[in-house]
Amino acid sequence: MKAASAVRTRPTMLEAVAASPVQALRPYRRRRVPGAVNLASNELRHPVLERLAGEALSDLPAADLAGYPSGTAVTRLLADRLRTSPESLLLVAGSDDAYRLLTEALGPTLGAAAVTQQLNYQSLPDYARLRGLELLTAPYLPQRHAFDTAELIRLQAARPGRAVVWLSNPNGPTGAVHTPEELENLCATVAAAGNLLVVDEVYRDFQDGPRWAGPARTGHHRHLLRLRSFSKGYGLAGARLGYLHGHPDLISYLARWNTPGPVSVTALHLAAHLLRHGDEVAAVHREVAADRAWFATAADALPGFTALPSQGNFVAVRAGTDQLVRRGLDALAEEGITVRDLRPLGVMGPVLRVGMAQRPVLRRALTALSQAADDQATRDGAGAGRE
Ligand SMILES: Cc1ncc(COP(=O)(O)O)c(C=O)c1O
Repeated sequence: MKAASAVRTRPTMLEAVAASPVQALRPYRRRRVPGAVNLASNELRHPVLERLAGEALSDLPAADLAGYPSGTAVTRLLADRLRTSPESLLLVAGSDDAYRLLTEALGPTLGAAAVTQQLNYQSLPDYARLRGLELLTAPYLPQRHAFDTAELIRLQAARPGRAVVWLSNPNGPTGAVHTPEELENLCATVAAAGNLLVVDEVYRDFQDGPRWAGPARTGHHRHLLRLRSFSKGYGLAGARLGYLHGHPDLISYLARWNTPGPVSVTALHLAAHLLRHGDEVAAVHREVAADRAWFATAADALPGFTALPSQGNFVAVRAGTDQLVRRGLDALAEEGITVRDLRPLGVMGPVLRVGMAQRPVLRRALTALSQAADDQATRDGAGAGRE
């Protein structure tokens, strides 16, 4: 009797689920507005990438799908391309999967905390919450459209041997970058403190400003882990493929946390074909960077809008007022274009973000924003007239 009442005082497993703090997270569900052009998720659509993907798919023997995937060939192709060893690479099902894996493998079991930019990819705070991983942030500095690197250094130095400094560079969602000198200094300081620097480089392909080479041989550096993806630069967000690059000892530890065969036969086949056509893919990256500069200049010229510098495949555009953001979003929606509203982040102010696309689509986006600016000016003029 006594034992039964003692058991009853503890919540049951299902009661604990219902009361869990995890319930505060939003479950992942991607909604698409039917028929709309999605410029909200920084995917990459380009005819050259679509042609290459089509070639790969038509050349995939259906019989291959009956076997479990092996990442050996793609790992070797990547290793050749990066001039590194296959042992320093680990394939994952998209970089999001790497966030899951790393927060599990480096989290509370090792007593580590994560030090990151105030704005980073949302999966980091979400997974940190799930794993009970402490997260400390260095602020976004709106005047400089940059992150406080000195604060990142200070936060990790206060936790020697127990901190993972976790950046996205170029940063998502802002498009801001740390300079190569900042990263070099950060990497050296992190190593001196016995900590680990994780750099999410999913937007690196689009960088046309100075790029951090990093320690020339990343695979030999014990305190640096780089994360890359095929979602953005290769236009394969739907295939789910990314990889980690670091010291073989760390990669070997992380491999034990990976799911068996995380990347499908189809995704591996697509990646191999695109890697073999690296020159064509690189030309697409140069085109995106040129279109970004063109779009940013045009958006910046619109009354009330300021284009923030970006090294990703997107441009964040600050509007003078909240009302102008709303008008911009409405005008874009009317044009059949969805973009990301960055206001809910509560950090950047009235900012919307436009993913890059082919110029005809970008022209439509600019026309919509221009319409919003005109409407706002007319409204403001009418208001001033009444005063
Ligand atoms: C900074 C950053 N990292 C990672 C991801 C996720 O990329 P993947 O498709 O490789 O999971 C995104 C997606 O938008 C991102 O912005």
